[in-house]
Amino acid sequence: MRRIILLVLLLTATNTAFSPNYLVIWRGEGDASYVPIELRHQELTSALSLEQTPRDKAPTFSDVLPATDLLQYVSFDGTPTQFSNAVTRCATTRSAYMVLGSGDSFSTAASSSSSSFHSSFTPDELSSGSWSLRARDYRGRKFGKQLASPLKSGVERAAIIDAVNFTNSLHGPVKLQDPDLALFSFILPPFPSQHNDASYNPSDARENPRYLLLRQFCFGFNNLRRFDPNTRKCVTSTPLEPIAAFSMANVGMVNNQSTILDPYCGSATTLLASAALAPECKTVGIERDGNWMVNFTEVESDFSSRNLPPPTLLRGDCRNPLIRRRARASAPNGFDVILADPPYGKRERKDDDSEPLADIMNMIIEDKTAGTPLLKSTGRLVVFVPFPTEETRVSGEEILENLRVTKGVMSAAGLKLVEPISAQRLNKSISRLLLVFEPSSPMINKIDT
Ligand SMILES: *[C@@H]1O[C@H](CO)[C@@H](O)[C@H](O)[C@H]1NC(C)=O
Ligand SMILES: *[C@@H]1O[C@H](CO)[C@@H](O)[C@H](O)[C@H]1NC(C)=O
Ligand SMILES: *[C@@H]1O[C@H](CO)[C@@H](O)[C@H](O)[C@H]1NC(C)=O
Ligand SMILES: *[C@@H]1O[C@H](CO)[C@@H](O)[C@H](O)[C@H]1NC(C)=O
Repeated sequence: MRRIILLVLLLTATNTAFSPNYLVIWRGEGDASYVPIELRHQELTSALSLEQTPRDKAPTFSDVLPATDLLQYVSFDGTPTQFSNAVTRCATTRSAYMVLGSGDSFSTAASSSSSSFHSSFTPDELSSGSWSLRARDYRGRKFGKQLASPLKSGVERAAIIDAVNFTNSLHGPVKLQDPDLALFSFILPPFPSQHNDASYNPSDARENPRYLLLRQFCFGFNNLRRFDPNTRKCVTSTPLEPIAAFSMANVGMVNNQSTILDPYCGSATTLLASAALAPECKTVGIERDGNWMVNFTEVESDFSSRNLPPPTLLRGDCRNPLIRRRARASAPNGFDVILADPPYGKRERKDDDSEPLADIMNMIIEDKTAGTPLLKSTGRLVVFVPFPTEETRVSGEEILENLRVTKGVMSAAGLKLVEPISAQRLNKSISRLLLVFEPSSPMINKIDT
């Protein structure tokens, strides 16, 4: 019976027309392949599911512009506060807007918004909030921060005049710097109906543009520079960049109640990102080179100088059950999240041909069998692995085979690989994949219970 109801719900959901309520500008970092779209989606989806109970309403994404996915619509079923909380955590989001209205001119976009803005703004914002309305032209072929062109001030003034019925209901003062209501009008090419990527010609796009009226209401994690390797006392020879570390912590769904283990912690970048996102979480790092290459005193000072609670750092090899027992002192029932960027092929000892992902799986199985689980049955495992190919679309099965992780191992560990997989191209010959594992038991998917 419940199965049928679920099926009906699913069908209803997929038949509903896509109505975007938000627009996100992703962080570009100059090179779109560096931050793959799968990682962006995975990070924001994970952050949103932390905000929602039950965690079953995934957002949907669609492109705003032809030829780039740096700007996307997001349809999300929760509240604006949930959305902004999630965006604010994410390293791959630059900023997010609420979609208030759309149309074929500034004025139709503004008049189509009149029904939505009363619910989008608080009474205080409408009666006394300061505001500004800026226009941006997205019809060029530009990327990153330069995606939009500024408009001639005459055009911007015309936009405001056209939107007069809308702006008349805002009673607060106009303020150009940091207004309470940062309103934007975007001019967009007539995508997607008239154009596809191949035939897109920016000069055609000058005809029949679309107009959106938006409210900018939050920014992505905006303090990444504070975590830059060159601002830290302790860095290893191959430090994890902040954007990758924050994305990992987010897809691991780190929150204030989490206990987090990095079994190959190095200078503890993953734990630093976790502590920055959720200062009450408990972090534990194991490092074989502890107090030799990695100076634990310096690692701790990288936390304390940022007012973050320091991790518990243990020196040793995580494959040794005794060191894991010491780690579990901080998480007697097992960890909620294991994060790792293991040193594949960078071991100084030549006799070491270990496969860190296979090793992590074996640790999880060994401790589970011993009745002292390392990872909780609800826990997530997030690992970077290298993948020697230019091909960025590879199947999970191929990847696990290449990393010597069998189906039997996965089932014994009680985990399954989440797809699609984010492939980050590091250079021409090597990519790195972010693998996310979640419980394979029906903890989340309760259809059969
Ligand atoms: C504003 O609203 C008035 C009254 O509803 C209407 O007559 C007018 O055309 C509207 N102006 C614009 C620019 O939409
Ligand atoms: C986590 O804890 C910090 C500091 O105690 C607090 O500021 C923050 O609001 C908490 N986050 C959540 C989501 O509860
Ligand atoms: C670790 O760093 C601290 C502070 O920089 C220094 O005083 C200490 O001697 C270092 N420890 C080792 C083992 O190198
Ligand atoms: C790609 O990166 C790997 C790892 O950093 C390095 O060993 C390799 O030499 C690089 N290859 C090229 C072609 O730059």
